[in-house]
Amino acid sequence: MASIRKAVFPVAGLGTRFLPATKASPKEMMSIVDKPLIQYAAEEAEEAGVTQLVFITGRNKRSIEDHFDKAYELEAELESAGKHGLLDIVRNVLPPRTTCIYVRQAEALGLGHAVLCAKPVVGDEPFVVLLADDLIRAPGKGVVQQMADVHARFGCSVLSVQEVPREETNKYGIVKVEPGPEGELRVVAIVEKPAPADAPSNLAVVGRYLLTPRIFEKLTQTSAGAGGEIQLTDAIAALLEDEPVIAYPFQGKRYDCGSKLGYLQANVELGLVHPEVGERFAAYLRTFAQS
Ligand code: G1P
Repeated sequence: MASIRKAVFPVAGLGTRFLPATKASPKEMMSIVDKPLIQYAAEEAEEAGVTQLVFITGRNKRSIEDHFDKAYELEAELESAGKHGLLDIVRNVLPPRTTCIYVRQAEALGLGHAVLCAKPVVGDEPFVVLLADDLIRAPGKGVVQQMADVHARFGCSVLSVQEVPREETNKYGIVKVEPGPEGELRVVAIVEKPAPADAPSNLAVVGRYLLTPRIFEKLTQTSAGAGGEIQLTDAIAALLEDEPVIAYPFQGKRYDCGSKLGYLQANVELGLVHPEVGERFAAYLRTFAQS
C-alpha cells in the first residue's frame, strides 16, 4: 500500500487560552525550548514520508508561512558569519522534497470545516491530520508513522487514542471500541466532548487522525454540532456507518500544549533532554527544588 503523502494542519484557531501571547501571533508558533509547536508536528509527518504539508490558516498566521519559507537575509548573514550549525538549523526547517500549501479558512467554523477546506488539495487519497498543540514524544517511530503502519495493515481510518481521567471526557472526542479479529480496537461509536456521566468510555482521541478520503463526503453532509461548530468527530461517526475505523493507543507521551500546564511540562521535559542546555537545566532544577 502506498505511503501517506499529505498532512493537514488546522492552524486557524484563535488560541484564546494563551492570550495575550496569542493576540498577534499564532499559538502554533509558540516554542517548546527553541522550536515552534508546528515544526514538531511537521517533522513527525515528514519522518513518516509525508511530502505535502497543507496548512489551513486564518488571519494572524503569516508567521507560519514565513517560518516554512526560505529566509534569504538570515541565511546570508549566517553564512557570511561562518555560523554553519545555525545555517543548517534554519535550512532544515523544511526538507528539500517537502512542499507547503496554504488554504485560507475564512471563518472559524470548527475542526471539521477546517479539514473540509483541505479537500481540493488532498483529493482522493488517505491523509493525516495533526493538531500541533498536541505534542507527542515517541520513544521510537513517531505517532504518524505508527498510524501509517496500522493503516497499511488494515486499510482504514485510524484515530490515535489515550485514556484520560473520567472527569475530563468533556474536553475530547471519546470513542467506544470493540476488539476486532486481529486484536485491533474497532471504533463502534464516537462522540464529541460528552459529560463524564454520558461518556461511552474514557478513551479519548488526541490530535492525530489518519483518514480515508470518504471523510470529505461525510464532512459535506455534517451540520454544526457541539459548540455550534462543524465537528470532525460527527463526520467520523457518519464514516463508521460505511467503513471500519480503528482506535490506536499510540506509543509515546502526549503534552497538551493547548493548556498552560501541559505547555510548561513540555518545556521542562524537552528542556531536560535538550543537547545544549539539558544538563545545566537539570542541575538548576535540582537546586531550585531544594531551595
Ligand atoms: C479537538 C477535537 C476533539 C479531540 C481534541 C484532541 O478538540 O474536536 O475531538 O479529542 O481536539 O486534542 P479541541 O481540543 O480543539 O477542543
